[in-house]
Amino acid sequence: MEEQLIFAWAMIFCIAIAPVYGECYSKTVTPSSKVEKVTNLHFFLHDTLSGENPSAVLVARANLTRKDHSPVPFGSLFAIDDPLRVGTEPTSKIIGNAQGLYLSSSQDASKFTIVLYADFAFTTGKFKGSSFSIFSRNPVTEAKREVAIVGGRGRFRMARGFAHIKTSYFNATTGDAILDYKVTLYHY
Ligand SMILES: *[C@@H]1O[C@H](CO)[C@@H](O)[C@H](O)[C@H]1NC(C)=O
Ligand SMILES: *[C@@H]1O[C@H](CO)[C@@H](O)[C@H](O)[C@H]1NC(C)=O
Repeated sequence: MEEQLIFAWAMIFCIAIAPVYGECYSKTVTPSSKVEKVTNLHFFLHDTLSGENPSAVLVARANLTRKDHSPVPFGSLFAIDDPLRVGTEPTSKIIGNAQGLYLSSSQDASKFTIVLYADFAFTTGKFKGSSFSIFSRNPVTEAKREVAIVGGRGRFRMARGFAHIKTSYFNATTGDAILDYKVTLYHY
């Protein structure tokens, strides 16, 4: 008890003096004035739910929606490992992959919307080993939509930006889709 009290007082003391002396744990410096860069990327995400080897798999869904027979009913959560390709053909070159989750988030089936939580990584070219993160609503039925990019790794460290997505192909029976991504990234 006594030790805890001393610790608590020590913490308060540290917090109180940190801005002045910076001895305890905090250090704030002015970053070197690096110039911000803008990178534009264009690729196609192939999201396949059907077949023997899907790149998107259902990992959870609400039992209450069991009467909804659409491929992606409200409340269903998919895990993805979708290839990023240079073209719409299923054989075109793979340049990376998007790994993460998406959740069917609209109760109104006519406004089919997902929330996408995914890391888009590159496996070839000058951005090999780098990735950016999308955490955004994606109103899938709109012809052209924008999603938010909230961070990145490697060459895309501290990235933020947006992606414009268009649907190149969608099969409403299977849920399979090919999506045209035009990405604008601001990073250092
Ligand atoms: C889903 O709901 C039905 C009807 O209430 C019930 O019979 C069934 O056991 C439920 N399934 C699961 C996995 O909870
Ligand atoms: C959608 O997928 C089903 C099942 O694979 C197939 O029979 C149908 O032709 C496809 N539709 C389109 C528009 O590609």
